Amino acid sequence: MPSCLTSKVAIVTGSSSGIGQAIAIRLASEGATVVINYRSGSDGADETRASIEAAGGKAIIVQADVAKTSDTQKLIDDTYSQLGRCDILINNAGIEKKAAFWDVTEADYDTVLDINLRGVFFLTQSFVRKLRDTKTTGRIINISSVHEDLVFPNFASYCAAKGGIRMLMRNLAVELGPLGITVNNIAPGAISTPINKSLLEDKPKLNALLANIPLGRLGTTDDVASLAAFLASDEAAYITGSTYVVDGGLLRNYHEQ
Ligand code: BGC
Repeated sequence: MPSCLTSKVAIVTGSSSGIGQAIAIRLASEGATVVINYRSGSDGADETRASIEAAGGKAIIVQADVAKTSDTQKLIDDTYSQLGRCDILINNAGIEKKAAFWDVTEADYDTVLDINLRGVFFLTQSFVRKLRDTKTTGRIINISSVHEDLVFPNFASYCAAKGGIRMLMRNLAVELGPLGITVNNIAPGAISTPINKSLLEDKPKLNALLANIPLGRLGTTDDVASLAAFLASDEAAYITGSTYVVDGGLLRNYHEQ
């Protein structure tokens, strides 16, 4: 594998577990210096760093809750003070809360929207301001979901946030193109990660989901990380404004019962 990200610095939010962890490890394996971010899972962040360093890569860890604007600014400031630059932002941190629409609490709505949408908005704003001030080009990759497009009953707040990310990405591709900044979404389907732990433990539900996936298996975090590495690379320089689905065909598999 050529080290195509050498000399680049990449922030990966929520990289203490799941998809974020796999992306951090993958980008580091291609030469990027990675900023591992976590909110509360410091053990997971240490594990990500250990894995990167064992493979000869470079990483630092910065704790920040993306839901808080003061934290997102600190994440960018710490990156610049420790590494002097930042080229790639992977907005990965995400959360979902299951409830029938009529039972959704204001607190759960706020948690989901604050992490999945507000956090992306303001962290990206801080990232872009620095690129603008330093006249540097950059990459923004949002880890969205098939549910930026596909309904997900009992997850209305999650869908509202992911739908918001879809339009945010499209808008920013146009607004940031003149600055040489590309913006794309990756929309994973059912990937085996801690976010869907309860589903993975519920055999009948899991089997029903698998029956809807043409490729017949859950995705792995590496299935997503390889696309993130491509979109972050020079090979993807002319790609902006789109969502790339990694779902084994789930989204295209609507059928009547
Ligand atoms: C959700 C998972 C779900 C998958 C497929 C993802 O965005 O986080 O909980 O299994 O979509 O529906």
